[in-house]
Amino acid sequence: MGEIFYVTTPIYYVNDMPHIGTAYTTVAADAVARYQRLKGRKVFFLTGTDEHGQKVAQAAAERNQNPQVWADSMVPHFKETWRILNISNDDFIRTTDNRHTRVAQIFIQKLKDKGDIYLGTYEGWYCVHDESFLLSSQLVDGNCPECRRPVEWVKEENYFFKLSKYAHAVLKHIEENPEFVQPETRRNEVISFIKSGLSDQSISRTSFTWGIPLPFDARHVMYVWFDALLNYISAIDYGSDMKRFVQTWPADLHLVGKEILRFHAIIWPAMLFAAELPLPKRIFAHGWLTVEGQKMSKSLGNVISPKELVVEYGTDAYRYYFLREFSFGIDGNFSRRTLLGRYNAELANDLGNLVSRVLTMVKKYRNGTVPEPDTPGAEENGVIETVPLVLSELDEKMSELAFNEALSSVWDLVHALNRYVDIRAPWSIASDPSRERELDTILYTSLEGLRIIALLILPFMPETAEKIWMRTGMTDKISDMKLDEAAKWGMLPHGSKTVSGDALFPRKPE
Ligand code: MSP
Repeated sequence: MGEIFYVTTPIYYVNDMPHIGTAYTTVAADAVARYQRLKGRKVFFLTGTDEHGQKVAQAAAERNQNPQVWADSMVPHFKETWRILNISNDDFIRTTDNRHTRVAQIFIQKLKDKGDIYLGTYEGWYCVHDESFLLSSQLVDGNCPECRRPVEWVKEENYFFKLSKYAHAVLKHIEENPEFVQPETRRNEVISFIKSGLSDQSISRTSFTWGIPLPFDARHVMYVWFDALLNYISAIDYGSDMKRFVQTWPADLHLVGKEILRFHAIIWPAMLFAAELPLPKRIFAHGWLTVEGQKMSKSLGNVISPKELVVEYGTDAYRYYFLREFSFGIDGNFSRRTLLGRYNAELANDLGNLVSRVLTMVKKYRNGTVPEPDTPGAEENGVIETVPLVLSELDEKMSELAFNEALSSVWDLVHALNRYVDIRAPWSIASDPSRERELDTILYTSLEGLRIIALLILPFMPETAEKIWMRTGMTDKISDMKLDEAAKWGMLPHGSKTVSGDALFPRKPE
C-alpha cells in the first residue's frame, strides 16, 4: 500500500470548454506530481472527463447532438489544453470508457448485494448545473445555494444509498484525521454539515437515459456523481487488476474546488466505507477565481481560455502566475495587470535577466567554459548557505500546498544570487589578471546557483527549468534528477560548456 504517490484532479464536465478556472486545479496537481517525481517518488497523476448526466445530455441536446458524439468532440479540447499547459498526467479517464463503466457497475452491485442500496422515491429539488439534489432548506432565494441558478422539482423513482448509515464513521474519520480534509475552515464546514444530519443519497435517475445503466435495474441510470467519483478507482483497475489497485490506492491527494468538497469529503468516503476500501489520505479544497473582480460566466462574456494567455505569455509564465499569485486554499482574482506585473518583475527581470547576464559574462570572460572555483569566501558562502534553507522551506510549503509561498522561497535564492552578482561585480575585475581566480569563483558560484534554481523551479516551470539547466552546461537530463542529491552544491562540473540562448522572458510593455 502507498508505494505510489497518487494525485487526482476532479474530472471535468464536457458540457463546456476548459477555462482558466478548470485549468487551475490541473496546473496545481501537475506541480504536485512533478515535485513528488523530483523527490524520487513514483507518481500516478490522474485527470479526465465527466461525461454522463443531465447537464452534459442537455448541452448535447441544445446542439442536436447525440451525447456520446458530443463528448467525443469535447474531449480533444481538454487534452489539447493540458498539452499546451505541459500537464504531465499519467492517464486520462473518461467516464464513458468501458474500463470505467464496468467498474462502476461492479461497485454499485457490490453495495446493492450488501444491502446498502434500496429503492425509493425522490421528491425534491435538483440543480442541473451542479448535478446536485437539494433540500428546500438549502435553497437561497429559491435558487441553488452553490451556483445560484434556478433549480428544478424532481419526483421520480430512485435508488438510494444508505449514506446515513455511514455518517458517523465519516464524521469520526474527519475528526480523527486533521489531514484528511483541508483547509481547516472547509473541514469545519464539512463537519457541521454532517452534524446537521445526513439523509440517504439518491444514486439513480429515471427521467433521462444518458448514464451508466444499473446492473440490477436497467430502467435506471447511475446518478452522475456516484458514477464520477468512481473514476478514482476505475482508472487504477479496481475489480480487474487488484494487484495494481492495491499498489496505488489509497490516493495520496484529491485536489478539488471548494464547491465540490462535500461530494468528496462525505459521499465518497461513505461509498468507500460501504465497499470496505481504504479512504484517500487527503482531500484539499482550493478557492475560486474571479476575473477582474467578477464571477467568470458565459453571460458576462468574461470566460478566459488558457490558450489565449499561453499565446501571449507562454506556458511557463502561465503556470508561474497561477501558482504564485493566489493562495491555494482561498479565493483569488485574476487580473491582466497582476499577470503583466509579475511577468515583468519576477520572470523577465529577476529570473530572466539573471540567467542572461550570468551566461553572457561566462561567454565573454571564459569563452563559455564553466570555470573551476577557488575556495568560497564570505559572499559565496552566503549564497551556498541559502540553498538548504530554501530547500527545506520549499518542501514544507509544497507539503502544505502553499504554492505561492513555495515559489516565494525559491525567489529568495533568485534574489540572493542577483544580490551576489551585484555585490561581486565580476565586470569590475574582469580586466585584472591578478584576480582571475576570484573571477572564476564568482562565475562558478553564479552558474551553480542557476543550476540549483533550475531544479527548484522544475515542478512549476518545467521548460524554463530544462533550458536553464542545459545552459549552465549540464548534460544529464534534468528529468532524471532526484532533488536531494542533485541540489548539492558543487555538482556542476567545471570544464563543461555553457549554452547561450534567447531571453527566457522578454520584457513586455506595461
Ligand atoms: N465533474 C465534476 C467533478 C467530478 S470529480 C469526481 C465537476 N466538474 S467541473 O467541470 O465543473 O469542474 C469543476 C472544477 O473546476 C472545480 O472543482 C474547480 O476545481 C474548477 N473550477 C471551475 N471553475 C473555477 C473557478 N472559477 N475558479 C477555480 N476553480 C474552478 O465539478
